[in-house]
Amino acid sequence: MNEIEIQKQYIKKVRENNKNKKQKYIIVTMGCQLNENDSEKLCGMLDEMGYTKTEKQEEADLALFNTCCVRENAEDRLFGKLGELKKIKEQKGIIIAIGGCMMQEKHITKKIKESYPFVDIIFGTHTLHKFPEDLYKILEEKRKLEDVIDIDGKIYEGLPIKRDSKIKASVTIMNGCNNFCSYCIVPYVRGRERSRQPRAIIEEVKELAKQGYKEVTLLGQNVNSYLRVEKEKKIEFEEYEGVNSFATLLKAINKIEGIERIRFVSPHPKDFTDDVIEAIRDCNKVCKLVHLPLQAGNTKVLKEMNRKYTKEQYLALVEKMKNKIPNVTFSTDIIVGFPGETQEEFEDTLDVVNKVKFEQVYMFIYSRRIGTPGDKMENQIPEEEKHKRFDKLKALVESQIGETSKKYIGTMQKVLVEGESKNNKNLLTGRTDSNKVVIFEGDKKLIGKMVELKIISEHMWYLKGEI
Ligand code: 5AD
Ligand code: SF4
Repeated sequence: MNEIEIQKQYIKKVRENNKNKKQKYIIVTMGCQLNENDSEKLCGMLDEMGYTKTEKQEEADLALFNTCCVRENAEDRLFGKLGELKKIKEQKGIIIAIGGCMMQEKHITKKIKESYPFVDIIFGTHTLHKFPEDLYKILEEKRKLEDVIDIDGKIYEGLPIKRDSKIKASVTIMNGCNNFCSYCIVPYVRGRERSRQPRAIIEEVKELAKQGYKEVTLLGQNVNSYLRVEKEKKIEFEEYEGVNSFATLLKAINKIEGIERIRFVSPHPKDFTDDVIEAIRDCNKVCKLVHLPLQAGNTKVLKEMNRKYTKEQYLALVEKMKNKIPNVTFSTDIIVGFPGETQEEFEDTLDVVNKVKFEQVYMFIYSRRIGTPGDKMENQIPEEEKHKRFDKLKALVESQIGETSKKYIGTMQKVLVEGESKNNKNLLTGRTDSNKVVIFEGDKKLIGKMVELKIISEHMWYLKGEI
């Protein structure tokens, strides 16, 4: 029996155990879209095990945390929550399970075992698929369980999944990262790069199209190096519908009927080959918003970060894409206050922001991560200085976003309608190709459809449109 069939047996056993018990679970997801996609898989398994989802902590029989460890604030959040759950645990014996990236860090699991001994299950990124087995053991044998392995997990296909949306879906195409940027913990907690088989991805997207999904986002820590490691290391993979690289994957998905939009995050600038640029240009469904993580604008800082490109190379890549792809726009990730970054070097980051004019900038204050080279660097920047730089960058980004948003006024935009607006149920909300939120008046029947809207005003984080 293969691993997934074994887990399906456990799913059945837990479902029998839960029969007529009306068991409920709450799930808290931290971090990136990959983690959200993992949580959708956990929800899929829990659903099949007879659990229903609740948003109310006091109702839950099982509390599940899917953790992130990219920055420190996620740790504070988890330990805060665990403090709260202690009382509930004492009152009604709720099962507490913690999984995901943070559980791959030994100092964290040690702290949980010492200070929060009431946690029932600890599982890592490579053992997510074994959650039914772990849960069964707790329910039946009532013993605490730690299921974390350090080796790179295999890619398992065929797990149940319960997606948050019926319109947009995330599809993980690769796991892990081989880049070892010196600030980043991901390669240590997610392991080495490994790609899913082309056939598995194509079949998943075809099935999504059949179910009525309109947009897919391809996910990976380094999406544009899809299948690269396999080719370099001569690891066997089966070509399917012509897919043997990221560019050919985009082309194959572009042909799938029913899917109207394709997005992908995150690519690495160093792997942005011409075939990928051409695929973005030629595939009508691929959105022309490219997320291109900059991290820092100064060449020396980039070198210290082990990013493998210079300021000039980044700007040249942006220029090349602007020339080749009509209407291309960019979004990015930036870290301020990396060890040793001087005021002058930070100004280079501002300079790149000024030059590129991003649609969206995700800004982060450098956070020391145990086990990374960055943490061992001696010239750490004081917190106060990091915050000052962050505020400066934020002010620049906000003024630019105001400017770029103004350019939308009076234009026609294709918008995929996602649902009712959260703040006003009488309005609908959707997104443009460039991922801008648009709010407008319209019939609920438009939900899930593509509409042409005229943009009438801009409001910092969203646009207003009319049909
Ligand atoms: N400190 C701050 N930001 C970080 N990121 C990754 N590691 C760190 C860190 N140690 C940011 C990067 C990455 C995004 C997902 O998180 O910008 O692209
Ligand atoms: Fe982290 Fe760099 Fe890998 Fe992205 S590419 S996950 S920033 S090591």
